[in-house]
Amino acid sequence: MTGRIVAVIVALAVIAGALPFLLISNTPDKVVHSFVAPKDEPYPVRSDWLVIHAPTGVQPKAAYPSGFPPLYVMNRPSESWTPEAAMLHRQVENGTIVDPRKLDAKWRDEMGKVIQEMFGTLSNPRMPDGAWLIDQLKLREKVSALRKDRDVKKAQAIALGKGKSADERQSLEDLESEVNSLADGIGGLERQIGILGAYVGELRLEPEWVKEGRNRFQTFCIICHGPTGAGNGEGARLQLTLPRDYRQGIFKFITTDPSVEGKRKPSRSDLRHTIFYGTDEASPMPQFGRIFTDDELQRIISYVMHLSMRGETEFEVMKRALDPRAEAISPTELRQALIEQTAAIVSLWVISARTPIVIEPDPNVTDEQKLSAAVRGHELFINPRIGCMECHPRYGRQDLFWFDSWGSIVRTRDLTEPEFCGSNKPEKLYARIYAGILGSNMPAYTHLRPTAEERAKGINKIWDLVHFTRFVSDSSDEESWQTLRDKRQLDLSVEAGPVDPPGDTPDQRHPKRTKGKK
Ligand code: HEC
Ligand code: HEC
Repeated sequence: MTGRIVAVIVALAVIAGALPFLLISNTPDKVVHSFVAPKDEPYPVRSDWLVIHAPTGVQPKAAYPSGFPPLYVMNRPSESWTPEAAMLHRQVENGTIVDPRKLDAKWRDEMGKVIQEMFGTLSNPRMPDGAWLIDQLKLREKVSALRKDRDVKKAQAIALGKGKSADERQSLEDLESEVNSLADGIGGLERQIGILGAYVGELRLEPEWVKEGRNRFQTFCIICHGPTGAGNGEGARLQLTLPRDYRQGIFKFITTDPSVEGKRKPSRSDLRHTIFYGTDEASPMPQFGRIFTDDELQRIISYVMHLSMRGETEFEVMKRALDPRAEAISPTELRQALIEQTAAIVSLWVISARTPIVIEPDPNVTDEQKLSAAVRGHELFINPRIGCMECHPRYGRQDLFWFDSWGSIVRTRDLTEPEFCGSNKPEKLYARIYAGILGSNMPAYTHLRPTAEERAKGINKIWDLVHFTRFVSDSSDEESWQTLRDKRQLDLSVEAGPVDPPGDTPDQRHPKRTKGKK
């Protein structure tokens, strides 16, 4: 908790201390520092490392000690690298972390131009018009071509009649299956046209909203999230949990269904929840609910979405261009690739928003039932086949660090602490355990959803885990802790988890809170 307060105080001090300088500053990297972007300052073409996926097989021993994430440190001479930076550098060698500065200058310029055409500039942001995307992708032309094709095939099938010989029956079957797959193709394209035609209104990305959101964002958020949403504002370096880099298109605290193919996106209400409540003192994302009116908040959400869509378009296309196994994208193909990528990303946002996780009603109503659920949840938690303990040893009291999808370091949560990043509301916890936490290594547990038999008995394993988690995290609250321990004798003692490795324990390098520890 103190860490959070310190982070905010430091962030405010940075703003206050830097303000006079910033207003007159004309430094070369003014993009990161300036609060009001000069007229039509373009979004810079990305030049920082691209993490293709969360590094696997290597586990960092600590959070970065002095506020310098390993990925930043890699830009310095190797003598000053932390062991974590050296581990990440091995990922560069095997190609899962790549350097976009290697892309040809002309190619990068072309990328900047097309992205600006679609998304505007830092001072004048906008979203590409849906009708324009449909037009550029020639979706209507593609539909008519497929329709024509389908009609020809249909006519051929009719001419063939019912077919007498085995051969004729076979060709009729072939024709019918071709007609069906053409119909599927037409259906898919029509759905895409529908989504693209409506996305600006459905996701509230109208130009005025995006622009008004930008103004607030530039004042309140860039100190941590940076002007392009890269999570690289000045204040970021001071924090152990880095501000979100939206350009990866990954968000953690979301309630959309994991069955959405591709990287599922947050709904507007998920983003609103994070911005309104912050991350509940468990990490440095402040609570803005009292600062903004709902109208302002809604516009900021639109701008966050804009930054994420712009950034992810750039990220995905660069990633393909840097993949030695993928086909090269020539400067002339680049425009089409960027437009296709944007269309795919905005479609994912729409589909995710339309597909919330179905949260089954909690079968445990009374306190007594909730207690029993917590006891069952405890058994699930320590069950090695489920594996919670592998990542949350000693219920999270033992530090474990992971590289995340951004190449930064995440600590598994200490579940005995009272705060949660993504809220301790039961239905939010349900969504997090059911669907996992994207980008963080915490997997989804959709397979624990109740079977018909369990449902009939009023048992839902996800709810059991939710109740267990809530009881454990209430550890600072003597009464519920005692009730749970005395009544059901759950062994939550330190000895219940694996022991610390000898020697250089992570705890020595990570300033950790001690409140509520038993
Ligand atoms: C003091 C630094 C700080 C400031 C200021 C700040 N944030 Fe954050 N923000 C963070 C951190 C740190 C995280 C990552 C939290 C985590 O993963 O636990 C974050 C995460 C987020 C996320 C991602 C949530 C998710 O589900 O992944 C959004 C969206 C966000 N912030 C929006 C904003 C907006 C909008 C503003 C300005 C109104 C803002 N933030 C200001 C530090 C900050
Ligand atoms: C592969 C590792 C891994 C496994 C397995 C795992 N977790 Fe996690 N869990 C994490 C990480 C990493 C975080 C921290 C995410 C963050 O703060 O961004 C986390 C965070 C959490 C949180 C806190 C979310 C918040 O809002 O702060 C809860 C609750 C949680 N895990 C419960 C569970 C339960 C219950 C299980 C087993 C069913 C489980 N975890 C299994 C890695 C794991």
